[in-house]
Amino acid sequence: MTKFADIKGFVFDLDGVITDTSILHGTAWHQLADSLGVTWTKELGDGLKGISRMDSLEMILKAGHKENDYTQAQKEELAAQKNTNYVAEVDKMTPANILPGMKAFLDDLRAKGYQLSLASASKNAPRVLGKLGLTDYFPKIVDPASLKHGKPDPEIYTKGAELLNLDPAQCIGLEDAAAGVQAINGAGETSLGIGDATELGAADMVFADTSAVTLANIAKHLD
Ligand code: G6P
Ligand code: MG
Repeated sequence: MTKFADIKGFVFDLDGVITDTSILHGTAWHQLADSLGVTWTKELGDGLKGISRMDSLEMILKAGHKENDYTQAQKEELAAQKNTNYVAEVDKMTPANILPGMKAFLDDLRAKGYQLSLASASKNAPRVLGKLGLTDYFPKIVDPASLKHGKPDPEIYTKGAELLNLDPAQCIGLEDAAAGVQAINGAGETSLGIGDATELGAADMVFADTSAVTLANIAKHLD
């Protein structure tokens, strides 16, 4: 079992962990699903968390039994439409959109010399960090375009540890999505889930919301 003293780095998801953009992604996909005549459900929305843009579109089309109704070019156009709507919302964001406690947590990690990297599937991650005023905290970002497989595959979290020159066992990964927790576990890192304990049951520790994410609480769970 990993001990708190072994931990040297933190690999962060972005959407739903550092900021509330998971809601914005959900709203933009919901709009697209409505326009395609695909019934939106909470399960569909939850299942899209952490999933890449094109994989998300495929899941929505599949839910409506429409996966064979569009050409690749049309699918790319649909994904681009969603992204245009999403980016318009991102551009309204400010540092006030950082989730409760996360700025203090990031400052504490930096002050104590922990290393940080970002393992978000989002190609918009640098833009979101900029809006939040957090660009300087994450000089090390896994480029989602470089991945062979998206979450729940461990690749993105493996690369997140590599960027820090750390062994995965020295890292904690933070996630709000079941697919992301699976990816962290597969990479051999300690998984910290934020959200519903049932949905994130595979995580090594689960906190109901971001305000509970502190080094003291993490130490309590590990030791
Ligand atoms: C994150 C979000 C997903 C989103 C994915 C791709 O993982 O949790 O909801 O689909 O990033 O984001 P992008 O901004 O590249 O479309
Ligand atoms: Mg997320």
